[in-house]
Amino acid sequence: MSLQLLSDFSLRPHNTFGFDARARHAMHIDSADAAAALATDARIANMPQLVLGGGSNVVLTRDFDGVALIVGMRGKRVNGEDDEAWLVEAGAGENWHDFVAWTLAHGMPGLENLALIPGTVGAAPIQNIGAYGLEMGERFERLSAVELETGARAEFDRAACAFGYRDSFFKRAGRGRFMITSVTFRLPKAWTPRADYADVARALDGAATPDAQAIFDAVVAVRRAKLPDWTVLGNAGSFFKNPVVSAQAFEALKQREPGVVSYPQAGGQVKLAAGWLIDQCGWKGRGIGGAAVHDRQALVLVNRGGATGAQVLELAEAIRRDVLARFDVELEMEPVRV
Ligand code: EPU
Repeated sequence: MSLQLLSDFSLRPHNTFGFDARARHAMHIDSADAAAALATDARIANMPQLVLGGGSNVVLTRDFDGVALIVGMRGKRVNGEDDEAWLVEAGAGENWHDFVAWTLAHGMPGLENLALIPGTVGAAPIQNIGAYGLEMGERFERLSAVELETGARAEFDRAACAFGYRDSFFKRAGRGRFMITSVTFRLPKAWTPRADYADVARALDGAATPDAQAIFDAVVAVRRAKLPDWTVLGNAGSFFKNPVVSAQAFEALKQREPGVVSYPQAGGQVKLAAGWLIDQCGWKGRGIGGAAVHDRQALVLVNRGGATGAQVLELAEAIRRDVLARFDVELEMEPVRV
């Protein structure tokens, strides 16, 4: 199998911030076989490799002196069922939102809370995408991947993925080592709505028993109202994770800042709304050069035009310092820096 090796490749259409970075080389990888063949491809031996799906969770800080591997495996199919659930598999290169819509159209609800999240199916497990009361890990069955160095195929079940809040094995020990080729989801036959999240409940406008399509529509409406469309205003969704602090630290903070927005966690810890912390520091709508804080959701940094990854990181650092100084809370960046 000989894949075309492209040179001086623009990454601009391949990152949702729209940064104008270039890769020395690039290859389109459209099958698991093509992914497995990379390990023995002499043309790219010893070259740094960057696996890119939709590019919705990366900050490209400069040109990439290596080969960008653009993930393009397609296909969606029901791949089995048991009494409790349908197993549905999709190629890593499928668009996430289109896949969610497809499952609903085929009468298999369960992913509707994750509608309109940018990016690909293959990227979803890496940061365990989550929104409006659901994390992808809850609907995950297994994934197939190829180890880039050896070309070996590997299967990961839920335990092996070690999902956490915006976290998985693929952001830690597995970082940069694998290309995910397909993902299989477990969609429950006994579906129940998740409609507790305040914004979604409001958009449902008191509907007593919303169906999955109603939740899908509500989530789409909420996201359109608050989150910028990356095709219009480049961004990578939430730029920071919502920080989790100890009960003790939270009590101390609440004394000083009674308005702090928080969510109790299992085990007594407390998750804080980073958007609120940033908003309180007066950052909403402000920026450095082309990099700015979104004016409707302070957790999202945007490229107003012509921003570089370095400028976005500079802005993020200024925000991190302000939040630390005022709240004594450390913010952690969510996208991956390249
Ligand atoms: N808030 C403010 N000012 C802001 C932004 C938020 O005061 O500028 C307050 C809101 O009023 C609300 C609270 O902070 O009380 C939480 O805001 P929101 O509901 O918008 O959610 P979030 O915690 O900021 C998280 C996820 C989003 C996800 C939403 C809905 C993270 C890092 N972000 O945001 O995920 O869509 O909840 O579930 O967990 C993403 O990861 O890219 C992403 C967009």
